[in-house]
Amino acid sequence: MPSPVQTPQAFPTRIFSGIQPSGGLTLGNYLGALQRFVEKQDEGIETIYCLVDMHAITTWQDPAKLRHATREAAAGFIAAGIDPARSILFNQSQVTAHVELGWIFNCVARMGWMSRMTQFKDKAGKNSENVSLGLYAYPALMAADIMAYKATHVPVGEDQKQHLELCRDIAIKFNNDYGVNFFPIVEPVIEGAATRVMSLRDGTNKMSKSDPSDQSRINLTDDADTIAKKIRKAKSDADALPDTLDGLKDRPEARNLVNIFAALANLSPTQVITQYAGAQFGTFKPALADLAVEKLSPITSEMTRLMKDPAEIDRILGAGAARADAIARPIVDQVYDIIGMIRSRQV
Ligand code: AMP
Ligand code: TRP
Repeated sequence: MPSPVQTPQAFPTRIFSGIQPSGGLTLGNYLGALQRFVEKQDEGIETIYCLVDMHAITTWQDPAKLRHATREAAAGFIAAGIDPARSILFNQSQVTAHVELGWIFNCVARMGWMSRMTQFKDKAGKNSENVSLGLYAYPALMAADIMAYKATHVPVGEDQKQHLELCRDIAIKFNNDYGVNFFPIVEPVIEGAATRVMSLRDGTNKMSKSDPSDQSRINLTDDADTIAKKIRKAKSDADALPDTLDGLKDRPEARNLVNIFAALANLSPTQVITQYAGAQFGTFKPALADLAVEKLSPITSEMTRLMKDPAEIDRILGAGAARADAIARPIVDQVYDIIGMIRSRQV
């Protein structure tokens, strides 16, 4: 069950989250992030969701593909249930407060903190001399995304936990360095049965839009046949499902499929294992394939429909950006005052 959102500090509850349009949306994005975004919106909390195009270019993007992926991700958000009238939905580059505060946070964050980021180490690998400076600074821009709105809660998948800890450290250091209580200390919201959806080919690797194998993931643009086929061909093992979750301890692929089932069906993994105790994958996989098609197909069709009118998507993103700017601009202007920048154009 999602825990009720609490705000320990004197800041009003505000949700912010982002997804990179560096490829198509996956089932991992949907179960780890998007489903939660919709839930928070529907609970009536103020929600701000961002397609972080500035983050996407930390690794080179083909410009035409980036434009397409940004619109497609926006369509995916709306198709999944984000209502642009209730949530603010926009693309990051259109609200300059993000990069302005991002630079200031580059000057607050310490090299040592950045060097500990496991996502950077994973992405840079042995190639760390040759990746962009932006990839290294990426988590400071992410902190700026959140703090430009003084957001208090950030729904994300498990892999973003360390970045949110860094965001807390940056906010604390800024507040201390300038003797203010200006930024809230953000709470990660990592909820649901599938906070880390794994690859369908390897239960020890995260499902990712950048995996070279398309068989490893379900894309929100996959048609019903493709979804069903990918699930039927997903790596599993020869044993029947056990009757407790403990029995899945050393079976990462089986555990992943049970988690996916639970998240799609809005059940807990324990409820799924109770229901399917003793079942072979020959039974469980077709049931999962049916469930996935039932839940995802309407989203895919709606995305396709929305993508027929890219101008309308751009209009929605633009309107969202104007609303986002109205919140972020005064916050970043106050930051300029706090740190000693003369706002000479406004005197
Ligand atoms: P990204 O696609 O890396 O921009 O991630 C956007 C959001 O989706 C973040 O909140 C991630 O934590 C979440 N996410 C991405 N992949 C997965 C996954 N395999 N399982 C769960 N959440 C994920
Ligand atoms: N780093 C996140 C990811 O790759 C995307 C992101 C950028 C984000 N800015 C954010 C997520 C702010 C939450 C809040 O998954």
